Amino acid sequence: MAKTPKYIEHDMFRMPMGFSTEAYRSALNYSATAEDIFVCSYPKCGTTWLQNIVYLILNGGVPLGPDMRLPTVFPHLEEVGLQVCEKLPTPRLIKTHLPFFVTPWHLEARYFYIARNPFDCVVSFFHHTCGFPQHYDFLDGEFNEFFECFISGKVDFGDYFDNLIPWYNQRDKSNVFFITYESMISDSRAAIKKIGKFLETDATKLDKTIDQVVRYSSFESMQKYQTRWASPRIDAVSPFIRKGVVGDWKNYFSHDQAYRLLDKFLNKIQGTSIDKLWPDIVASVRHYS
Ligand code: A3P
Repeated sequence: MAKTPKYIEHDMFRMPMGFSTEAYRSALNYSATAEDIFVCSYPKCGTTWLQNIVYLILNGGVPLGPDMRLPTVFPHLEEVGLQVCEKLPTPRLIKTHLPFFVTPWHLEARYFYIARNPFDCVVSFFHHTCGFPQHYDFLDGEFNEFFECFISGKVDFGDYFDNLIPWYNQRDKSNVFFITYESMISDSRAAIKKIGKFLETDATKLDKTIDQVVRYSSFESMQKYQTRWASPRIDAVSPFIRKGVVGDWKNYFSHDQAYRLLDKFLNKIQGTSIDKLWPDIVASVRHYS
C-alpha cells in the first residue's frame, strides 16, 4: 500500500504535525500594521532565501550571528501564533504560507511573494517531507507517493495553485512585490536591488552593503550555516538548504508525471499569464521524453 505523509488538519487546512491549532487560529486574527513586512509563499519556493535577503538588507548586510535563528527574528505566523508576532520589534518581519484570502492584510504593510515552478517545488517538497519525520512520519517515503499527494493538493498548506494564483493576481498592488525563485537564481544581485527598492532602502546605502547581502545570501553561505534557518525545536534528517538549482525535476519525474502536472498547470492557470513566468520550464516539460 502506498505510504502517505501524516498531517494535522485545522478547518480543512493541512499543517505539519506539531503545529498547534491555537497558534493557527490566532494567526488568522493577527492585525497587520502599516510597518509590517511579510514574506509569503507556498512551501519550498525559496521563502528562507528571500527572508534572509530582507533581513540582510534591513540589517546593513550583517548576517545572523552564530546563536541566532531566522525563525526567531522572522517567525512563521501560523506556526507561532499572534502573540509571538505582536511582540516583534518594528518593523515586524513575518513569514507565512497562508493563502492570500486569509493572510492578515493592511493597505500599507508590505508583502513579498516568491513563486517557484511547480515541477521543482514538488521535488523540494518531497525532500522536505522525508526530512522532517516528526512533522510528517514519511522518512522512507518515495517520490511517486508524494507526487500523488501534491498533484491532488493533499499536502500541508493546501494546493500549490490555490496559493499561487490569488497571490499572482495581487502582483500589481503597490504594497505587493512578486518575484520568482528562478529570476533570483539567474541574477540575484539584480533581485536584491529590486527588493531593496521595495523596502525603501536608500540606494547609496544599499550600494555600500550589497556585496555583503549577495555573499551572505548565496547558496554556499546559507548551506554552510544550516542551523540558522530552522526552528530550534526541529531535528531534521536532511539539510534545509538542499540543492538550490532550477530543473532538478528531471531527475525525479516520469514521463507520465511530467504530463499530468503540466496538464494541471495549464488548466489551473487559464486566464492568467502565469505561463510567462516559466516559459523555459513549460517548453522543456513539453519536450520531456
Ligand atoms: P531545493 O530543495 O530545491 O534545494 P523554502 O525556504 O521555501 O523552504 O525553500 C527551500 C528551497 O530553496 C530549497 O530548494 C533550498 O535549497 C532553496 N534555497 C534556499 N536558500 C537558497 C539560496 N541561497 N540559493 C538558492 N536556493 C536556495
